[in-house]
Amino acid sequence: MILGPVDEIPPGEGRAYTVQGRTLAVFRLRSGALKAFPAACPHSGGPLADAQIDENVLICPLHLNTWDLTTGCSRSGQPDLEVIGVREVAGQIVFSP
Ligand code: FES
Repeated sequence: MILGPVDEIPPGEGRAYTVQGRTLAVFRLRSGALKAFPAACPHSGGPLADAQIDENVLICPLHLNTWDLTTGCSRSGQPDLEVIGVREVAGQIVFSP
């Protein structure tokens, strides 16, 4: 399922997409890789699509808890993030759970 063009996410930022009843936070890393997680922070529901990226760390804008962008593992004692399958195909973000 196509979520949209990769170009609508600036490198180093995230955007929220709703697919199959779920809202995802999709990030386009500066390396070009795409990563996706549930959009609601497991700490207190903060908007993870607005999170900052610092190298390989995702920082929630609400209370600054952190997660590893590759594994979704918490670095600050919160529940881990589910890593959701997305990939780029011909310039499009494809949801592939
Ligand atoms: S809601 Fe994300 S760190 Fe609190």
